[in-house]
Parts: sequence; structure tokens; C-alpha cells
Amino acid sequence: MNKKLQHKIFQIISETADEMQLETYVIGGFVRDIYLHRKSKDIDIVTVGSGITLAQSVANKLRNKPHVNVFKNFGTAMIKYKDLDIEFVGARKESYHSDSRKPVVENGTLEDDQNRRDFTINALALGLNKSNFGVLVDTFNGIDDLNKKIIRTPLDPDITFSDDPLRMMRAIRFATQLGFEIQPETLQSISKNRDRINIISGERIIDEVNKIIMSDKPSIGFKLLEETGLLKIIFPEFLLLKGVEKINGIGHKDNFYHTLEVLDRIVPNTENLWLRWSALLHDIAKPATKKFIEGQGWTFHAHNFVGVKMIPGIFKRLKLPLNEKMKYVQKMVQLHMRPIVLSENVVTDSAVRRLLFEAGDDIDDLMTLCEADITSKNEDKVKRYMKNFLVVREKLKEIEEKDAVRNFEPPVKGELIMEIFSLEPCREVGIIKDAIKEAILDGLIHNDFNEAYEFMLQKASELGLIRKI
Ligand code: CTP
Repeated sequence: MNKKLQHKIFQIISETADEMQLETYVIGGFVRDIYLHRKSKDIDIVTVGSGITLAQSVANKLRNKPHVNVFKNFGTAMIKYKDLDIEFVGARKESYHSDSRKPVVENGTLEDDQNRRDFTINALALGLNKSNFGVLVDTFNGIDDLNKKIIRTPLDPDITFSDDPLRMMRAIRFATQLGFEIQPETLQSISKNRDRINIISGERIIDEVNKIIMSDKPSIGFKLLEETGLLKIIFPEFLLLKGVEKINGIGHKDNFYHTLEVLDRIVPNTENLWLRWSALLHDIAKPATKKFIEGQGWTFHAHNFVGVKMIPGIFKRLKLPLNEKMKYVQKMVQLHMRPIVLSENVVTDSAVRRLLFEAGDDIDDLMTLCEADITSKNEDKVKRYMKNFLVVREKLKEIEEKDAVRNFEPPVKGELIMEIFSLEPCREVGIIKDAIKEAILDGLIHNDFNEAYEFMLQKASELGLIRKI
């Protein structure tokens, strides 16, 4: 294990701790990630004594004398060294009251400190003093759980989760990120304690949800959230997608599982959190728009538009940003069926031009979403769609090169129209501008100044306007 602590910083911490006669360990996620061969830049150092004093002495020994960020209230200190974030804390014993996450903290031993941690795999510690440098202290068989791929709490899970209910989200997040199983007793305890999640801030919850979404197989996490009842509390709109209704023996697909499949399918093609959120929300309004129509079966008319309207409320409650990220998700949800509809019909130039106009620079993301949305079990159908999407992509390229409508700027501006016909801003200017845009999108004229100018003159004369210059 000494090999894993080769970074110079561990030697410096070790020497300092020995000089100060402080029993010191590296603990938590960093140690777990060593065994999992994952790279980690967050180092947690625990010492039986004052973490703040140790941090200050370590910083003094470093060549660039980094600033020590002290959080007196928490008894912690942080140093940024090269690309590492190192946090120092004194070993502690914590007890909690049932109505809050704020513990009563006392100084403690290493074992007390390991006791208060969330999972056995996160309670591993490696000695840093010369006498035990690199020696593993594994009080709760965390290595065994790492090998068996198990998430388990060190203490009775009811205590660990009740102490800090965010850990219920963390359990599911680690299970998703690492592909681990949550040990049955631990899982049951999440179901039992789920209502305690209400004392956790929305920001911390969504942080965990986003980590689930950014993992390789987010469906694992959402299925666990559903199974434990947490989903109903934190994101009830999503749970409404679950289930199949039948009328006259005709059902529809289960949109919960369909959505999770779309999300998993989009993962290899994007690291963009917001495109992944778009996948998660693309059918969010299906429950609200569901209707059975005799002779037609189940319909979800305008579910994309209703979905767009639902998004601000969802984003606000989930503490997601209400800025251009949200607008991007709205745009994706609104347009998510367009390439499919397009590929089902003859792919005309004008339909492609309109799609390019509306999607702008997000057109590639939209195509990625649409391709992920084809989850049919019928392989021939999937093949046919994918082939059609290729045609759409080709056509998009061709039209883009020819007509450049991706970031459409009208070739004849409103000011010029007003100048030529000596107009103040008025309805007619809007009508002419719109007509030019439509003519370009319909392919009647090219996206070109001279053609647009001629078209403007013609349109203006239809409106009875007289040219003044
Ligand atoms: N920890 C805990 N309970 C929490 C948060 C953290 O017991 N609610 C402990 C765990 O021992 C954890 C360590 O603090 O390993 C560091 O926490 P953090 O940096 O949040 O998580 P990591 O385990 O390092 O994992 P990641 O960086 O992926 O969040």
C-alpha cells in the first residue's frame, strides 16, 4: 500500500505528524478509491488531536506555503496543494438529535471517527505515522465489502441514516456509480427512514441526483430511488410515468422504464448533464396528456409542449438553475419528436430547414436525444429509424452548407425596410420580415441579400407600401 501513498504530500504530512506526535491517517473516499483504482484529488486527513494545527504545520513545510482555509466551527482546515484538495480534521465522536443534521461533536479516537462515517467502504484508513505508514485500519471489513461490491453502513443503518439522511441518497449514488449492491438490511432501512430526507436541503439532494445522472448507468439509481420510496418524495412527477393502463385490452408502454432506457442509451453519447436531463424529462407530460381514443388507442397529444410548461416548476423545486440551461432543456423537450416525425415522412428540404432554424446550434444534441429515444423491441423498426436518421443527418449537413439557417439572421433587416418605405416601427415591418423568413425556410428564395431584397419589394407592394428612396 505504501506504493499508493507515493505522492510527496504524504511524506510531508507523515514527518509533520511525527514531529508533533499526532496519530494521523488518510481516510474515507481517497482510500476507497485507491483500492478501486479510481483517481481522486480529494484527500481527507484525520488526526487524533487538532486538525487545524496539523494543517498549519504542514502548510509551513510546503515550498509555496499555501493558504490554510480554517473552518473553526467544524474544526477543519483545507489546503490546496498542486491539484489536490486536502482537508484536515481532528478525530471526532458525534451524536445527533432527531430534528436536525447538526451533531454534538466531541474529540474522539480513530475508531470513534470511523464509527460516524457513512459506509464501511468509506471508513477505511491508512496510517501516516512512520510506525504504521500505509498500514490499513479496516474496523468494519470495508475491504471485504469492496471485493463483494456491497454498500453497507458501519453501524445499525437506522442510526447512520437517521444521523444524516443525505446518506440514503449517497448509498444509492455509490451503488449506481460503482455498480455495487446495497446490502438488504441497509436498503430496508432507507425505505424505513425515507421521510427523514425532508430535513436535507434541496441543493444537497440534487447534487446526488446529478451524480446519479452522470454515472454510466443512471437507471440503477432511479430504480433504487423508486423502490425505496425516495423518488415519490423528491421527484413525484417522474414517478407518475410508471405503470401501464389498459382499455379494451390495449395498453401503452411504461414510460418510467422507457425514460430510464432512453437515459441509459444517451450516456455513451454525451457528458452533457443537461442533455441527460432532457432525456429524463422528454416524456414528463405523458401522464398529464394521456387519453384513450376509440379506434386510435392511447394518445399523448402535445406532451412535448405541456412538458415545456412543466419544466420551470420542476427546476425551481429541485433547485436546478433557472437560466439558459433550463431553456436548453425546454428546447430539447419541445423538439424531441421532430426528427422522428421528419424521418417517417419524405425528408423535404423545407422541413429540414425549419428544424435547423428552430434547433440552431443544438441540432446535434437533438439528434442524439432522438436516436436514444428509439427503444422499440422490434429490431427491424429500430434499424429502419436509425437508417432514416442517417438520411436526416445527411440532409441537415447538405442544407446547412447550402442555406446556413442554423443561426438565422434575416438578410434584410427591419431598419432597412423602415428606411426604404419611410416607416416608423409598425406591424407592416414585422409582416415583411416574417414573410422573408418564411420564404427562406420554405425554399422559395435563398438566404441571400439580393433575393431577400427583391422579395421584400414584392411583398411591400402587395401591402400597398410606396418606396421612398
Ligand atoms: N462522509 C460521511 N457522511 C456524509 C458525507 C461524507 O460519513 N454524509 C464521510 C465518508 O467517510 C466519506 C468522507 O466523509 O468518504 C468524504 O466525503 P465526500 O468527500 O463527500 O465523499 P467521498 O466519499 O470522497 O466521495 P465523492 O468524492 O465521490 O463524493
